Amino acid sequence: MNSTVEHLKAKFEQALIAAFGTDMAGTDPMLVPASNPKFGDYQSNAALSLTKKLGKPPRAIAEAILGYLDVTEICNPPSIAGPGFINFSLKPTYLEGQLTSIQNDPRLGVAQAKQPQRAIVDFSSPNIAKEMHVGHLRSTIIGDSIARILEFQGHDVLRLNHVGDWGTQFGMLIAYLREVCPEALTTSDAIELGDLVAFYREAKQRFDGDEGFQETARQEVVKLQSGAEDTRKAWQLLCQQSRREFEVIYDLLDVHLKERGESFYNPFLPDVVKDLAESGLLVESDGAKCVFLAGFTNKEGNPLPLIVQKSDGGYNYATTDLAALRYRIGQDKAERIIYVTDSGQANHFTQVFQVAKRAGWIPNNVKIVHVPFGLVQGEDGKKLKTRSGETVRLRDLLDEAVVRFRGYLEDKIKEENREETEEFKSHVATVAGISAVKYADLSQNRNSNYIFSYDKMLATIGNTAPYLLYAYARIQSISRKGDINFEELEADGKIMLQEETELVLAKHLLQLGEVIRNVEQDLLPNRLCLYLYELSEKYNQFYNQCPVLKAEASVRKSRLTLCAITARTLKLGLSLLGIPVLDRM
Ligand code: ARG
Repeated sequence: MNSTVEHLKAKFEQALIAAFGTDMAGTDPMLVPASNPKFGDYQSNAALSLTKKLGKPPRAIAEAILGYLDVTEICNPPSIAGPGFINFSLKPTYLEGQLTSIQNDPRLGVAQAKQPQRAIVDFSSPNIAKEMHVGHLRSTIIGDSIARILEFQGHDVLRLNHVGDWGTQFGMLIAYLREVCPEALTTSDAIELGDLVAFYREAKQRFDGDEGFQETARQEVVKLQSGAEDTRKAWQLLCQQSRREFEVIYDLLDVHLKERGESFYNPFLPDVVKDLAESGLLVESDGAKCVFLAGFTNKEGNPLPLIVQKSDGGYNYATTDLAALRYRIGQDKAERIIYVTDSGQANHFTQVFQVAKRAGWIPNNVKIVHVPFGLVQGEDGKKLKTRSGETVRLRDLLDEAVVRFRGYLEDKIKEENREETEEFKSHVATVAGISAVKYADLSQNRNSNYIFSYDKMLATIGNTAPYLLYAYARIQSISRKGDINFEELEADGKIMLQEETELVLAKHLLQLGEVIRNVEQDLLPNRLCLYLYELSEKYNQFYNQCPVLKAEASVRKSRLTLCAITARTLKLGLSLLGIPVLDRM
């Protein structure tokens, strides 16, 4: 099904051609949703933007277009406003028809991408032997939602976890563990990630102050790189221990992705350097191999280098990303590659992308983007910490959200004199608590920093997950109260839009596709959140104004169908954010 805007655009183009000739083909009708209901539903300022090209005043252009514009099926007669805007108001009969056609469509009328792509979303990507921190949590939540939206649009998505599982620090850690906790290197469950992180810190201290130890650590690195069996085994155990902890978080969040860590690209690193040399970009500077970057200068104003091989022969984070980029384009056949990390890595990605482009590794059909996000701050506006000043463990952070929602739920159940099972309470609290954390993250424009506040995210009013979950559950309660099967109803419901609030709700319901397509392009899930929040508000206004169960039979059926479509829209939209719904809570 074509969306309303697409319908209008096609008609508009026909009229332009009829009025001003075939070279108008492809002209952008500049149709946008009207900013104010008094301008109708959509507004075009094409007439204004065409004045130069056509050498006519905008109102005359608008009039000429209207002379040929046939949109009677969709709109009331369009009107010209101000200097030459054209306003469109959708007809109730058109809206009724559109809603009827989405009733039996599991996709609610949202068209799939016309050209499905092979897409890679590189997200989450924590580091081995380090705690997964809130930055990784943001990446996990945002990346998962982006992947879900692209999948829903029919793209072939590869979700990659670019885990930091390689580097000289492993030599240091292994050398240290051989001394203080050798069993960690031979048995798979000797220590926990928390201990590992502490050992890592101690190893670093030791490394910084002890030259003898530095040499031992370096030997371990050489052994690791040359594939010495005991060192390899030790490294693998460290990876497994960390992975176990990461899995706990992924399970809680219901996020699934494929681990392909930095070590995977080791065999391809020498070729990166070799091919850069062949392309003439590589320069040796103080023994290091590097590419001088355009647009990046040091304090003295000289171009900055991107080092791809250090003087000791070691490779860098950037080298691995260059190798990964080549692999993803060459082997995975990716056409769109999306990297979700905090904005602190923006320079890193700009530099890597620049070098890859200059080396000619990025074909024209491939789009690569960094999707940055801001910091997570505590309520004091500073970096998020526990009360005692330590970094917050993600596990604890998610558990706390669940515990707090559980407290709220228990009170509510008591207040309402309900009897609920333990299973019910625990399920509702888990879904609402975890969803609240996800939604708080997704509903902000990801580019800004966000303040982590349990009170705000768990509130049952406002733009929060609990609010939307309750909105959904309330609609389901209508079907229970009226003993109505929404699915059966939707199969043959006839929709009649009479009241203003019904029309407003209907128009909003029909905008889902536009919103999803926007997010598919701009990768800003907060737009979808806002859409869902506004949907619940518009639904509430409708529900307050229009009796549903008590209405006369045909009106009742139509209104119940509106309820059913709203519920399905909420459910679908939330699922694209990684949030499941609850029928009752
Ligand atoms: N492991 C990195 C970190 O924790 C993130 C990796 C992001 N992905 C990439 N291809 N560089 O900062």
